[in-house]
Amino acid sequence: MNTHSESSLTSQRTFIKWFRAVGPYIHAFKSKVFVICISWEESESDRLRFLINDIALIQALGIKIVITYDCWSKTKAQLASMGHNVSYDERGPVVDTVTLQCFKNTLGEIRMNIEALFSSNVPNTPMTNSKIKILSGNFVNAKPVGIHNGKDYKNSGLVNKIDSEIILKALNSFAIVLIPPLGFSSTGESFYLNAESLAQGLSSELGADKLLFLVDENLLPTSFQPYPNEISQKTAREFLERQKQSEFSEILLQANTACENGVQRVHIIPSTLDGEILLELFTQNGLGLMLTKENLNYLRKAKYEDASAIHSLIKPYEIDGTLSFRGKLKIERDIKNFSVLEHDGVIYGCAGLLTNKDKNTGELYCLIIHPNYQGKGEGGKMLDYVEGEAKLKNLKKLLIKTTSAEHWFLKNGFEKSTDQLTDINALFEDNTRNSKILVKTLKN
Ligand SMILES: CC(C)(COP(=O)(O)OP(=O)(O)OC[C@H]1O[C@@H](n2cnc3c(N)ncnc32)[C@H](O)[C@@H]1OP(=O)(O)O)[C@@H](O)C(=O)NCCC(=O)NCCS
Repeated sequence: MNTHSESSLTSQRTFIKWFRAVGPYIHAFKSKVFVICISWEESESDRLRFLINDIALIQALGIKIVITYDCWSKTKAQLASMGHNVSYDERGPVVDTVTLQCFKNTLGEIRMNIEALFSSNVPNTPMTNSKIKILSGNFVNAKPVGIHNGKDYKNSGLVNKIDSEIILKALNSFAIVLIPPLGFSSTGESFYLNAESLAQGLSSELGADKLLFLVDENLLPTSFQPYPNEISQKTAREFLERQKQSEFSEILLQANTACENGVQRVHIIPSTLDGEILLELFTQNGLGLMLTKENLNYLRKAKYEDASAIHSLIKPYEIDGTLSFRGKLKIERDIKNFSVLEHDGVIYGCAGLLTNKDKNTGELYCLIIHPNYQGKGEGGKMLDYVEGEAKLKNLKKLLIKTTSAEHWFLKNGFEKSTDQLTDINALFEDNTRNSKILVKTLKN
């Protein structure tokens, strides 16, 4: 075999591996509603072209897309060049007639650019063969911000009502819905709307599965602990309490409101790279910050007082032979290894993690979800949590020894171990049960 064919074989294998790795996301996202808010303003740049190509691609995968965009900075710059000052405070800008006209001009220009880019289907580009329809309209009813402390915000508006029924109809007929941040009142007037707040309103009203904010790369703070890529609503709230108002905090506030209104995940994605939206949606670690809807059930490390509850969960499976015998004393002794799922003070799930630092390997054991809670994704959440813990410990592999849930683990990314059991045996105390040994490689 010559070098050329070897390298082309390698690239074919890489392609196949990559394409298959994306499969679970494609299946999961099909028919889901995503609201995208483009919060950076380079309306004529290549970046917008690339982004539109990528949005067209994800729409072709069956994702229903609603887009809105920000054009306030551009409007402000134009007003400044005209020598027209705009007063702005936490309620938003005062939008007088000149400001509104300038805003409509920028908004119209960006809208037409977006529509033009979606209409392209030039050969040898990602848009070849695409036949995308864009729909816009008077879907958003607005009301004036009004007069506060004597200050009249004029044509600055707030979302009053969203015609979700008609938007969903458009999405179901395979159109992309483009909603500029302009609302119309029942008196026939137009109102400036804050794009991020509009995106939040749209995602909440449509029951969207995801809300994506594409923001300027300098907007995101560098660190969120303990998980840099994903934060809970609690972390977001704590951040908002600590930090001064900023562009980022305004977006995070809208993201948190969307989660409170039922949106499962909000992604804040820095527009640093070509393909940022693909990286965020189709790779395990993504690129930006993901805020997940708070679950009243919560996952935490076990405490000594949890030993009895863990023992009650495990005991029936010790009796029927699913798990090897441990007993309460051993659970108490190893309590630091355990994590639990709790709802209203009731522990209904547990899992243990044993670590072997030398070999970069961990063993997951005693993963139990109480029968009343099984089949609702709780086992998957517990597994994700233990995987997160294993990653924080820099473990590279996770092993499981199972007698009755082999298929569940295979479905959750484990594979049959091809190891000669040498390192595995070091981890296990009991090798007499003829269990299946499965392994999952942990990606950081
Ligand atoms: C295995 C277990 C942890 C899964 O938890 P869960 O919360 O029910 O799992 P999820 O809701 O994330 O997944 C449910 C899916 O897995 C399937 N599933 C559940 N247990 C399974 C098993 N033992 N084998 C194969 N598939 C299984 C369900 O049928 C369901 O399939 P669907 O999505 O196609 O409807 C839970 O069933 C359990 O506690 N089992 C008993 C103890 C055990 O065997 N633990 C593992 C050994 S350490």
